[in-house]
Amino acid sequence: PTTRYYEWVVEEVNGSPDGFERPMLVVNNQFPGPLVEVNSGDELVVNVFNKMSNGTTIHWHGQLQNGTNFMDGTNGITQCPIPPGMNFTYRFTINPSQYGTFWWHAHASTQYTDGIYGPIVIHSPDEPIYGTYDRDALVILSDWYHDMSVGLLTQYLSTSGIDGSNYGGFNPGAEPPPDSGLINGKMTGSALDLEPNLRYRLRLINMGTLTQFMFSVDEHVLSVVEADGISLEPVNVHRVPIHVAQRYSVILNTNQTAGSYNIRAEMQEVCYKLANPNLNKMVLGTMTYGTTPTTPNTVDWSDSLPQECLDLNSTMVVPAIPMNPPNSTQDVLVSMSFQQTFDSGGNQVLGFMNNTSWDAESSNPTILQFARTGVQTVFDSSQLVVVNDNITVVDLIMNNYDDSSHPFHLHGHVFWILGEGDGSYQPGISPLSLINPPRRDTLTIPGYGYIVIRFITDNPGLWAFHCHIGWHMAAGLLMQFASLPSKVQEFVIPSYMEQQCSMQSGGSLIGK
Ligand code: C2O
Repeated sequence: PTTRYYEWVVEEVNGSPDGFERPMLVVNNQFPGPLVEVNSGDELVVNVFNKMSNGTTIHWHGQLQNGTNFMDGTNGITQCPIPPGMNFTYRFTINPSQYGTFWWHAHASTQYTDGIYGPIVIHSPDEPIYGTYDRDALVILSDWYHDMSVGLLTQYLSTSGIDGSNYGGFNPGAEPPPDSGLINGKMTGSALDLEPNLRYRLRLINMGTLTQFMFSVDEHVLSVVEADGISLEPVNVHRVPIHVAQRYSVILNTNQTAGSYNIRAEMQEVCYKLANPNLNKMVLGTMTYGTTPTTPNTVDWSDSLPQECLDLNSTMVVPAIPMNPPNSTQDVLVSMSFQQTFDSGGNQVLGFMNNTSWDAESSNPTILQFARTGVQTVFDSSQLVVVNDNITVVDLIMNNYDDSSHPFHLHGHVFWILGEGDGSYQPGISPLSLINPPRRDTLTIPGYGYIVIRFITDNPGLWAFHCHIGWHMAAGLLMQFASLPSKVQEFVIPSYMEQQCSMQSGGSLIGK
């Protein structure tokens, strides 16, 4: 293991990823942001200097952060935003058990939507697919907007809803629809220049805010070998659906006729409420090998997958290292709903988990409240679930009373997916799979459906569980778990934290 240092400057610049110039937020003037490339067990040190006019935090999506909950980078939960003009150093060890494809992003309101995101690649000879491919290539998918997210969020959370004057007027409750989709930060002209007769590991990451993508490459079969950092038994597909925050690795063999081929990332507009008629749903990139790049004239696969906003079928996500979950010792039942309601101030509130809607307290994160006052006196148990005070196997059963599907992410843990389906979970009736079920960190709960996931609370801290659709999280669709609570209560609050928290101006970050 070694220490990997990165120096990052986060700032606002003008950019035009899809040809339309707008202010955006970037790290080191790169979009997508810098690659973090490490080995399992390395120490990662990232010094983040905030040159923006708002506070920010950086979250390391999928990193277990065992023993380093303070480095999880979650505004309102594990830290206060890094104030404008100041820096903060994230320092933690990449868990020796982790390898594969991850990403980092700002975790303060909808800030990452404006461009603060990038990939993390963790190498390890322990990875079952180590040595089964020749080269790596990143394929970063994201939806993109022509306006800063803060203005869109304000509209979204207002009683009249977002202004869709170009397409049907004001739409209360509808998410701001994206203006375009990007592959590796470009709407057109993104190119993979590959060599012939090699096995490429394409690392697909959806860094978007709202849109699920359907990914394919013309005339090339994709062998899916990783989902969210877990190696899989390879399965061959033509298309991979990938929702916000998920990752897949697929092996592509450059063994067809030399030439240029279309890469397709189709935006699944059916997943959200309001469509933008001006959106070009099919984002095209080019893959070339064995010749000079030209505009491809290849055709799409003729078969398709239904547009239903669901994850790759769980029978195709079989972990290569089998692991059966232990028996559960605590059930947590969550009802999730998404509806237009108004708080006492007349503001629109949309996302509810067990009838509470999360509101980030930027100056008073949960971790501080927990340490200062003791949890039971402070929290509504529907918003913060304090798990039994020993290592516990939790079954989280969530029913979705919304017609849309939602990609949910749990911080600090990898969970088993025991079941998912339509309607509400029926104890004793709904089937549960206990033999080597899929393990991942982000899964899509179907519209009007349910999920059952199981995880082990061996990691002391406060961990967010939320919908990764940026608009939904900012509208309150987030709850927290406290794992090993008495250990959390013993956390020594670092002195920088009190200082950063005292510097929050309150209104600088929009967040329900
Ligand atoms: Cu990708 Cu709560 O994060």
